[in-house]
Amino acid sequence: LQNLLSSSQQHQDLAKEVRNIISTIDMTLEAIKYKDGKLEILNQLALPEKSEYISIQSVEDAWDAIHSMKVRGAPAIAIVGCLGLLVEVLQKDFTSIDEAIKWVKESLDHLVAARPTAVNMSKAASHLRTAVQQWEFKSVQNWKARLQMEIEGMLEKDLDDNKQIGEHGADEILENFLPSEGKVSILTHCNTGSLATSGYGTALGVIRSLFSRGKIDRVYCTETRPYNQGARLTAYELVHDGIPASLICDSMAGALLAQGKVTAIITGADRVTANGDTANKIGTYQLAVLARHHNIPFYIAAPFTSIDATIPDGSHIPIEQRPAAELTHIKGSRIAAPGIEVWNPAFDVTPADLITGIITEQGVFSPHSLPL
Ligand code: MRU
Repeated sequence: LQNLLSSSQQHQDLAKEVRNIISTIDMTLEAIKYKDGKLEILNQLALPEKSEYISIQSVEDAWDAIHSMKVRGAPAIAIVGCLGLLVEVLQKDFTSIDEAIKWVKESLDHLVAARPTAVNMSKAASHLRTAVQQWEFKSVQNWKARLQMEIEGMLEKDLDDNKQIGEHGADEILENFLPSEGKVSILTHCNTGSLATSGYGTALGVIRSLFSRGKIDRVYCTETRPYNQGARLTAYELVHDGIPASLICDSMAGALLAQGKVTAIITGADRVTANGDTANKIGTYQLAVLARHHNIPFYIAAPFTSIDATIPDGSHIPIEQRPAAELTHIKGSRIAAPGIEVWNPAFDVTPADLITGIITEQGVFSPHSLPL
């Protein structure tokens, strides 16, 4: 009887393991599905429980997806904004190119306002505003085809940039901070992976490159309260790739660093200003302070589309305030005392002096000498 019982337990364990493996294979990391004028995004509000795609057919759909954070992460926001605009342009009848340009400019203004801190959408909008004005076409059809080429190019460029960021970041860490054991442990914050970009990721791209070189001992990802991008999204990506990783609460970072468990901290950026100050997910600044105290390198990984040379320093970055319910409730259930007031900034600014280097697609730069 004992044998029978233990073998049935083994079967159950095996079945559970198989179910876990199947669910991992099912996990999709494609945040943005775009082909020939059709756009779908993975609803990141439903992750990790459900992998559900939503169709984006207009500027308004894109605005709503960005504002409600169904898609989030600085590069992904810009790509979905621009692709949403493209999808609607391709469907729309314009009587003249001037009419189309006017509509595009107004739509870009609207999209930029969906979330204020990440600069990528606003930079893409300035680029497109200038570009559409310069193209010389006689037919609306040809003008639309040119716009399509321009916007589709952004998607491809972001993926290429991320791969470059990954390689430069891995070189930097291995050349300067490889411990004698031959592997590194990286702490990261928020989600900067395939789900925040067109694919691969920025800080998570560096981690992917280190892993593909066999150099990752362990990744620590913070939960990233209040929206839990770390627990829901980064953990999901790390499990998907089979990277050895542990989830920690944001408040555990100090204890982890004090135990000497982390080789380097790498996070992403929503906006890097001319002097190297960097806005990123709330909680990044405290990690940089901790890193300095423990003499651990602190890197920002970001494409040039996240660098805003028009702003001198971090004090000028608009910081988005999110609704109180993100802090007081989890999945609709209240966790905070009713009546309590809330301060819920979505981002903070890390001063350049606390940043060891900014890892970009063009190489790693001191925050004090960005090639602007
Ligand atoms: O509020 P979110 O989830 O859009 O914040 C995202 C971040 O702060 C990321 O670190 C940043 O956008 C870089 S994504 C490559």
